[in-house]
Amino acid sequence: MDVSGKTAVVTGGGRGIGRGISLALARNGADVAVADIIVENARGVADEVGALGRWGLALSLDVTSQQSVDDMTARALGEFGAIDILVNNAGVIGAAGWESRETPDERDWDFIFEINVKGIARVTDAIAPRMRERRSGKIINIASIAGRQGSSRNPPYNVSKAGVISLTQAQAQALAPHNINVNAICPGLLWTPMWERITARDAMTPNPQGKTQRQLFEAHVQAQIPLGREQTPDDIGNLAAFLASEYAMNITGQAINVSGGLLMN
Ligand SMILES: NC(=O)c1ccc[n+]([C@@H]2O[C@H](COP(=O)([O-])OP(=O)(O)OC[C@H]3O[C@@H](n4cnc5c(N)ncnc54)[C@H](O)[C@@H]3O)[C@@H](O)[C@H]2O)c1
Repeated sequence: MDVSGKTAVVTGGGRGIGRGISLALARNGADVAVADIIVENARGVADEVGALGRWGLALSLDVTSQQSVDDMTARALGEFGAIDILVNNAGVIGAAGWESRETPDERDWDFIFEINVKGIARVTDAIAPRMRERRSGKIINIASIAGRQGSSRNPPYNVSKAGVISLTQAQAQALAPHNINVNAICPGLLWTPMWERITARDAMTPNPQGKTQRQLFEAHVQAQIPLGREQTPDDIGNLAAFLASEYAMNITGQAINVSGGLLMN
């Protein structure tokens, strides 16, 4: 999974899966721009990248703002000179107050789509032209197993992630003639702040045994995952590093599950 000498941008890199991806890329030799709407978190992860002996750059980014995307791209290019790897990881499960809504509403549809789908299009459209000039690049979009299987629990999220898989195929077709690979990763169940929000919503339904949020998460893992264990940000980071390496030069337009067998397709 050698990505030494490469430069990467990881959106939403300040915590959770994005942090795992940033550190995996750094462990495998890349310099990493950690771009996040919470810039203090980006700084913390950029310092961790630095501690691994790579260049960690903390950048402020709101993927819903074209100006912010343009500023982030200009800064990353200004510092690194070129961007070899883009990981579109920033994503959300619902708008503010989603945890206490039985049914997601228009606020959730708009907020989720603006970040999970249009955010990926915005950042890719800003960075891919620079990759095209160099006839080289690797783009990795973080989708979800939720994009492969619909659910009545949170349709806006599932539909957005199905959109990420479709967008990945569209980008892969458009960019293949320019020697740019585009793939998606579909993570399973990971205990991050996103799942803290999901279990906060779960906890509103009858919970006679008084399970903690972490115990509710573990119950999901045991009920749904054949291998019987949760996935980790390292798992996702390791696959991202592989897809960003030349070992994956003939893989494009794919969506790969990392879900302990929850989905088998
Ligand atoms: N946790 C899981 O089980 C799971 C499963 C499948 C897919 N995913 C996907 O993985 C990705 C990361 O999720 P996570 O679990 O680490 O969640 P998280 O909430 O811990 O991390 C999301 C990151 O995105 C950043 N972000 C949010 N809005 C942003 C914006 N407008 N601009 C820039 N950055 C923004 C946040 O600050 C945060 O650092 C998401 O796309 C999510 O949908 C997560």
